[in-house]
Amino acid sequence: MNFQKLADDYGTPLYIYNFDYMKERFLELKDAFRARKSLICYAIKANSNLSVIKNFADLGSGCDCVSIGEVRRAFKAGVPKYKIIFSGVGKRDDEIKEALQKDILLINLESEAELKRVEEVAKELDLKARISIRVNPNIDPKTHPYISTGLHENKFGVDIDTAKRMYILAKNSPNLDPVGIHFHIGSQLTELNPIKEASEVVANLVRELKVIDIDIKFFDIGGGLGIVYDDEVTIKPYDYVQAILETISGLDVTIMCEPGRFLTANAGYFLTKVLYEKVNGDKRFVIVDGAMNDLLRPSLYNAYHKVEVLNDNKEFSKANIVGPVCESGDFFAKDIEVPKTSHDDLVVIHSAGAYGFTMASNYNTRGRVAEVAIEDGKDRLIRKRESFEDLIALEKEFLEK
Ligand code: LLP
Repeated sequence: MNFQKLADDYGTPLYIYNFDYMKERFLELKDAFRARKSLICYAIKANSNLSVIKNFADLGSGCDCVSIGEVRRAFKAGVPKYKIIFSGVGKRDDEIKEALQKDILLINLESEAELKRVEEVAKELDLKARISIRVNPNIDPKTHPYISTGLHENKFGVDIDTAKRMYILAKNSPNLDPVGIHFHIGSQLTELNPIKEASEVVANLVRELKVIDIDIKFFDIGGGLGIVYDDEVTIKPYDYVQAILETISGLDVTIMCEPGRFLTANAGYFLTKVLYEKVNGDKRFVIVDGAMNDLLRPSLYNAYHKVEVLNDNKEFSKANIVGPVCESGDFFAKDIEVPKTSHDDLVVIHSAGAYGFTMASNYNTRGRVAEVAIEDGKDRLIRKRESFEDLIALEKEFLEK
């Protein structure tokens, strides 16, 4: 990839996504499911740029959404309504109403109280809401605690007994149609066993439900497939699918999954430029023009992202790579060996295609950066850089005259 040319043409900081890589990952996963009816619903929270969503939609992907804003994005990008699902622990009435009116595939319920709300809204609209229930199988996914979701101590889903009660309520309601079941135990998973265990627990529940005449059609295994940021040994899509298939033998269901990171993380680069170097005592800092507001993962999770300085300098020493934001937590890497840098040297931060731009903010009145797609060897802008005018657009009318 010609980072220098991209920096010259679009400026820095900049997000760059390799659309061909994203397609390869999607097709690899789809192929692993080939023995079964399956639907991949890309989790657009990972990277919700409309062009990214369209890139997957064109390959037949559906979307997993967690707000009505994401549902609207999915529609805008051309995802058919029967491939859109809506999850999340706290959906508002207006979100439920719009999702039902839009007739999406299903709403994924995360509590008994929410079931009542959805039933109420569906009744007002005089329709039958297709629902699934997110089961919390109480299994430790062995990942970072902030992105672990399948334990009872986490806020997500409902325990097995509650789920059963909810399915029975739904079956007996004229306004609810229980068609799916769902679990998602965490993100950046690198061990297969917890996923398999969770799938077993949930598949057994499907079997129990069948006995009482509740016929589950969609078996949604969530997202979470881990990727290589550093030297992780990750789960192969084929092994992942085989492990799940073993747990659902005899069940006539469409398997759904909701990958986000797996499809986009390693397609993305965050490109930033060196502003200055400085030494405080014996600590060396390389200050770049990107910051924690652009890519939050290192600051929030202490996450590792490979950082590469693009120059030929042979003089290496340890440095912290930091941004201009007024927080000590504003860093991309700490104590890594990097060459001596000069003003305008480029720095590439790898694996930035998932939870990068979507977690960006305007902190310090920094406009969110531009996004560029690379496809078939050509680059194109897919989101403009935010200007100062964009940042104040919703406030300036309130200034006192
Ligand atoms: N499905 C559900 C219900 C989810 O909660 C998530 C992610 C996914 C699918 C997609 O998971 P993935 O395949 O991307 O692992 N900001 C964090 C990740 C938060 C994940 C939240 N849920 C990070 O930067 O690591």
